Amino acid sequence: MATNKDSQKFVQNFLKGTEEFGSRVWKSIFRHSWPDSARTRSLATMSNVFLHLHPTTIRRASLKVTYTFCLGGLSFFFFLVLTVSGVLLMFYYVPSVTQAYQNIKDLETVVFAGQFLRNMHRWSAHAMVITVFLHMCRVFYTRAYRPPREFNWIVGVLLLVVTFLLSFSGYLLPWDQLAFWAVTVGTNIAKVTPFLGPEAQFLLIGGYEIGQNALIRFYTLHVIALPLIAAVLMAVHFWRVRKDGFSGGL
Ligand code: HEM
Repeated sequence: MATNKDSQKFVQNFLKGTEEFGSRVWKSIFRHSWPDSARTRSLATMSNVFLHLHPTTIRRASLKVTYTFCLGGLSFFFFLVLTVSGVLLMFYYVPSVTQAYQNIKDLETVVFAGQFLRNMHRWSAHAMVITVFLHMCRVFYTRAYRPPREFNWIVGVLLLVVTFLLSFSGYLLPWDQLAFWAVTVGTNIAKVTPFLGPEAQFLLIGGYEIGQNALIRFYTLHVIALPLIAAVLMAVHFWRVRKDGFSGGL
């Protein structure tokens, strides 16, 4: 029969076990103890991807908001807003020529906060194009494209192109007159590319004129392919900012 002492020992062992388990789980996620001293606080900062985007040492002057105007960070913020609002829009939108236009009308008139959701997506897209462009101007103005950051400048150029393509591919989705004719003009521009023009246009719209094939192609590019490419490029971009050293930190 279990005595009082046995049950006390059992409880003690159980508590010790959960404590060890808890500390193992904590260590597997954070790899340092609770940040309660100067040393553990700096360890916490250095081992956290969000806190440690910039190098450990930078000039005090470069901490000024006016050095970057946080334009790269703002571009990333708008990308996140677009991702979340875009996923919510996908609950209501069907990429079909018979349904798309009505889906958008329903979003504006029937769905709770649908118009807010659509506008949030639209305005964030405009804002992202503007902030990415201004971020590029800032990088140029502070000469941050020079070695050792020339590779990150190229990654940035690719991000600029992907941002434009995301914007353009989203344009067709409402399937209204504006969308239809804007994409007709856009893909006709692709058609006059030297040598590969007609093939490029055919590949883009899946036929000779804008129709269901074009809609499904633009939709897939807009919701899967381009956001994935942008996310991978952004990961490389941020990693390079960290590895090349922030230009303001020299
Ligand atoms: C989706 C687009 C982009 C995002 C989210 C992004 C994000 C960022 C962030 C967060 C930084 C850290 C410093 C800062 O905030 O200014 C940065 C730095 C940098 N970006 Fe971008 N960026 C984008 C597009 C571009 C473009 C279009 C270019 C140039 C063509 C570019 C070139 C650079 C370079 C060279 C740096 C290092 C700057 C330095 O060390 O001062 N980026 N980017």
